[in-house]
Amino acid sequence: MPAESATGASEPSIGKIVLTEDDIRGRLAELAAQIDDDYRGRDLVLLGVLKGAMMVMADLSRLLTHDKLEIDWITVSSYGNNTRSSGVIRMISEPDLDLAGRNVLIVDDITDSGLTLSWLIGNLQARGAASVEVLSLLRKPDLAKVEVPLRYLGFDIPPDFIAGYGMDYAQRYRNLPYIAVLDF
Ligand code: IMP
Ligand code: MG
Repeated sequence: MPAESATGASEPSIGKIVLTEDDIRGRLAELAAQIDDDYRGRDLVLLGVLKGAMMVMADLSRLLTHDKLEIDWITVSSYGNNTRSSGVIRMISEPDLDLAGRNVLIVDDITDSGLTLSWLIGNLQARGAASVEVLSLLRKPDLAKVEVPLRYLGFDIPPDFIAGYGMDYAQRYRNLPYIAVLDF
């Protein structure tokens, strides 16, 4: 029987490290150089998907030299305390900025089923954004239920449930500076 946490969720242990801090920083630097090139002379709103994208946003934004960068956040939830997406996406908080006519780059931690991002892309297009692109630090290609066009992708990884670097299980492990498999 796995141990139970205060919230009643089962308590996994931290397993194999999939990506170290250095792996992540190195790849984000490459992606930041591409983003600087692609958005030179255009406005750019980085729209982070809370809470998972908190670390990616903090590190990526510091690597960008784009001088008209704005940062905003959106909160969506599709998992609850589970390790599989429910497919039912809830928007818990809206962006502050009016995104109509803006070049929006969604910044996310991981594309798993793809359901959250494909829903979000449609939502932002409906708000009249001039362009909507996606940066996802990670992708699990084996678990894709819908194809999401990722303009910027950090790494493809195996289908194991992972945590750290912003990503959680039952709201824990987000503070780990690396990304590890959780063993249940
Ligand atoms: P999707 O809708 O299945 O693509 O996943 C939506 C969100 O669920 C991701 O942006 C993550 O925040 C979270 N998620 C997906 N897979 C994992 C995982 O392995 N560990 C932690 N969070 C995950
Ligand atoms: Mg996310």
